[in-house]
Amino acid sequence: MTHADQELLRGAANRTNDLVRAVALTTVFGDRTVLDGVDLAIRRGEVFVIMGPSGCGKTTLLRHLCGLLPPTLGSISVAGHDLYTASPELLHDLRLRTGLSFQGGALLGSLTVQENVELPLRENTRLPDPVIRETARMKLDMVGLLHAADLLPSSLSGGMRKRAAIARAIALDPDIVYFDEPSAGLDPITAAELDNLIQKLNKVFGITMVVVTHDLPSAHAIADRIVVLLGGRVAALGPRDQVWHSPDCRIRDFIERRIPAEEGRVMDVIAHMEL
Ligand SMILES: Nc1ncnc2c1ncn2[C@@H]1O[C@H](COP(=O)(O)OP(=O)(O)O)[C@@H](O)[C@H]1O
Ligand SMILES: [Mg+2]
Repeated sequence: MTHADQELLRGAANRTNDLVRAVALTTVFGDRTVLDGVDLAIRRGEVFVIMGPSGCGKTTLLRHLCGLLPPTLGSISVAGHDLYTASPELLHDLRLRTGLSFQGGALLGSLTVQENVELPLRENTRLPDPVIRETARMKLDMVGLLHAADLLPSSLSGGMRKRAAIARAIALDPDIVYFDEPSAGLDPITAAELDNLIQKLNKVFGITMVVVTHDLPSAHAIADRIVVLLGGRVAALGPRDQVWHSPDCRIRDFIERRIPAEEGRVMDVIAHMEL
């Protein structure tokens, strides 16, 4: 792709309300090509779900999109700015507008839940102390955890810890939040509660959500659009129902093989329960 083509795409991205756009992303680790020419765009205000078999490069893609890992080839633009050629100041600004909720993104064990949520505000703003405290409490309220503000992470359940990490991820009012396998290690009910929270933050506060998940009921419950990665390439990309009912046999295999129909229906009911 020529520079002129990229400029054209960038212009198109601005016109079409795309917040993040990846063009021809390619990732090579050693002699292994993990991502092989991935093109996709994430629209403002949507819940965008990334699916694919274990080891297919979902976490790698997420790290590229949020600015943590430059791709071997290809480019990523955020709000029309090329992420990996941006000036340090712009990159810093773009990162501040991005929330991360990754596996292993643990809370600091020596700080209370509230202090954990205050941390990004203390590190990145000069807000006066009472404003920082009140902002953190507001974020805890948004994730339903105000009652646990003064507890240490060690006394929280797995689901509460995830909520606290989400409160921290939204502390700076990001435009977009990236989640890597948010329901990993949670029981189905707690996972469904987390789905509800992700949807609420999206619908009520308009935060764009990008969620990597291997959990089919969860993907179905929350996604506006889905991308399925197979063999390092985009195998399907589109509105949830279009991908879910894709006639492509590779997609059918992926959607149907992982979870038997009977179990899938039960899980679907759980995922849709109002909690
Ligand atoms: N930093 C790295 N160096 C070398 N190989 C890596 C690195 N990160 C990931 N990989 C490899 O790339 C492939 C995709 O990894 P990953 O993106 O974590 O997959 P997924 O999240 O879909 O399970 C795996 O084979 C993994 O071992
Ligand atoms: Mg992963």
